[in-house]
Amino acid sequence: MSSDRIIPILDARHTPDIASLGEERATGALHDRRGRVLHDLRISVTDRCNFRCIYCMPKSVFSKDYPFLGRNELLSFEEIERVARIFVSHGVRKIRITGGEPLLRRGVAELIGMLARIPEIELTLTTNGVLLPRLAPRLKAAGLQRITVSLDALDDPTFKAMNDVDFPVSDVLAGIDAAAAAGLAPIKINMVVKRGMNDHGILPMARHFRRSGHILRFIEFMDVGASNGWKMDQVVPSREIIDLIGAEFPLEPISPNYDGEVAERWRYIDGGGEIGVISSVTQAFCSTCSRIRLSTEGRLYTCLFAQEGHDLRSLLRSGASNAQLTAFIGGLWRGRDDRYSEIRTAETAALKKIEMSYIGG
Ligand code: GTP
Ligand code: 5AD
Ligand code: SF4
Ligand code: SF4
Repeated sequence: MSSDRIIPILDARHTPDIASLGEERATGALHDRRGRVLHDLRISVTDRCNFRCIYCMPKSVFSKDYPFLGRNELLSFEEIERVARIFVSHGVRKIRITGGEPLLRRGVAELIGMLARIPEIELTLTTNGVLLPRLAPRLKAAGLQRITVSLDALDDPTFKAMNDVDFPVSDVLAGIDAAAAAGLAPIKINMVVKRGMNDHGILPMARHFRRSGHILRFIEFMDVGASNGWKMDQVVPSREIIDLIGAEFPLEPISPNYDGEVAERWRYIDGGGEIGVISSVTQAFCSTCSRIRLSTEGRLYTCLFAQEGHDLRSLLRSGASNAQLTAFIGGLWRGRDDRYSEIRTAETAALKKIEMSYIGG
């Protein structure tokens, strides 16, 4: 096996602003060993999904016999809310609900309602969209602010080959419409691009979502998990996507909404709206990574590519006080040194890592 480095291009956009870090230090925000501030908490509420996307939950691994978590293993809504509040006391200001497919968790709108009562946070959710026609109004009423919908193609043969369970594109488009009608705006649409699989769909997707008010984002296919058979030549670099779309509809870059934003933003010069590219492989953004992930069974992961999580559930269920939980989380973030995407090699790509469907993207 080759040990060639896959060298990420580091750009100024992703260089931490030392002055602003100093300022945040004064307010008592949590800093890790690389000076990164804890800001985002991503909470996975189920490891199950009604799709079997080939790059995330391939049927060969995630068959009906796959040992998905049992009910007692999941954190309860009360446990999730308690942990979320402790994270907010540590400076978290954005909470994203993920899965698996989070809308499969029974009563998920109730959980949204509990989290929406926490002051000062932005609350959002990532979904494959097919349950939105039923749930979007309830989610909005419960206090969900925004939503991100995954959609990898606009033609049924490609989309069905990618979700591998025969869901048609029209189900997801109906979900997006329902979310828009419910007022969950702006809606972001995430397309994972895998060369040879759906890269022919880049332009059709761009054409479709131009002038829709939704923000289409193209994600470089990543080596998350251990089951998707990732290879570097399946990655379509974001630069190539921008050049392709820009040749038909001229584009210009726009500044990030916030320091450390994952997507690089572009807009159509003719006013057709905004798109984004997420370049975790060719332009690693670890230097500003502010995210921590809580798995369905209450393990904490300080990196999407971590091999091991930290067991918060045992602590929760052994009667730990809020002060003990606060200290545990603080210690974990302070000791954090992760920067997987910056040091990715062919060897690291082959390591056994936590699955995306378990940790929630
Ligand atoms: P907003 O900007 O608030 O909309 O959210 P986001 O872009 O941070 O969240 P989203 O879940 O939409 O992220 C999109 C995709 O980016 C994920 O599905 C992942 O593929 C990738 N991604 C997000 N966070 C990370 C990260 O910390 N590391 C890496 N390597 N990839 C990430
Ligand atoms: N590479 C990039 N993105 C991925 N996602 C799942 N697996 C991968 C992968 N291997 C994305 C999905 C969805 C979110 C949950 O994670 O497209 O937007
Ligand atoms: Fe399910 Fe999302 Fe994974 Fe597809 S990418 S299998 S929709 S969790
Ligand atoms: Fe953050 Fe790890 Fe992703 Fe780097 S690879 S951006 S450290 S989650």
